[in-house]
Amino acid sequence: MRRILVLGSINIDDVYAVEHIVVAGETISSRSVSHNAGGKGANQAAALAKAGLDVCFAGKMGSDGKWVLDILSSMNVDTGYTIADDSFSTGHAIIQVDDKGQNSIILYAGGNKEFTESDIDNILGNFSENDILLLQNEINLIDYAIREASRKGLYICFNPSPFDSDIRELPLELVDCFFVNELEGAALAEWEAGSGKDICFHDLAMKLCTLYPESSFVLTAGADGAYYAESGKVFHASARECTVRDTTGAGDTFCGYFISARVLGYPIEKALEIANKAASITVSRDGAMESMPVSGEVF
Ligand code: RIB
Repeated sequence: MRRILVLGSINIDDVYAVEHIVVAGETISSRSVSHNAGGKGANQAAALAKAGLDVCFAGKMGSDGKWVLDILSSMNVDTGYTIADDSFSTGHAIIQVDDKGQNSIILYAGGNKEFTESDIDNILGNFSENDILLLQNEINLIDYAIREASRKGLYICFNPSPFDSDIRELPLELVDCFFVNELEGAALAEWEAGSGKDICFHDLAMKLCTLYPESSFVLTAGADGAYYAESGKVFHASARECTVRDTTGAGDTFCGYFISARVLGYPIEKALEIANKAASITVSRDGAMESMPVSGEVF
């Protein structure tokens, strides 16, 4: 089976339960605080492992985050490629979750943005043609990682989240499969024809295919479900009704379960449904990687 490498962030998530997300100039009290394992890279590795795949995680962190790595290992992620270095701290996220389960996140990168080219060479040296590399936008040297992975013939998946303007400077034409939500998809396509409810996701998916004809796109669209687009063909799965407690990690769950379903041989529409189901379970529970379902709850 193809090996999967997640090269990405690992964070300590400090999660505050609030009645509403704080606004400029306001001071509010939280109902509770918890310290959870997180980071988009670590979360996506956890989702892949919980779905039953063999997955390796390569992150960069300080020793203060060892407990997060231990949680990831307990979920059967091979964390052996992660670099711990006490000259910096582990990345962290300050997360507010409101009464409707919506969140807002402030990131401090810490070790996540301390990768060197030689770190990436050493990590990629353990992987070869047709293995899968999964990246997000919370580490440095993504351009280098994409170029080197492409040179070695790895299949590159990229979740450009959180989205920023530097993303357009990356060698995006080398990405095999993008994972985007509605905002990231619209930003990537420089889409101006409507936003929010007014977006025609089918047209957006087609535009992404036109801009990056060699790539495929997995587009999550909230209440509109999820889309997959490749070579001008678009597939769709409807959203699932669910109770929302905490949306943190929902996108990471979707991404991990979609890749898992495809690696396990499920067709595209079924993989979209599986990923939707997994993400709907995550949002019904508190936390990020700890709230993700295991394979028996989904497949
Ligand atoms: O996608 C959710 C994650 O984003 C959180 O776990 C937080 O650490 C941020 O990276």
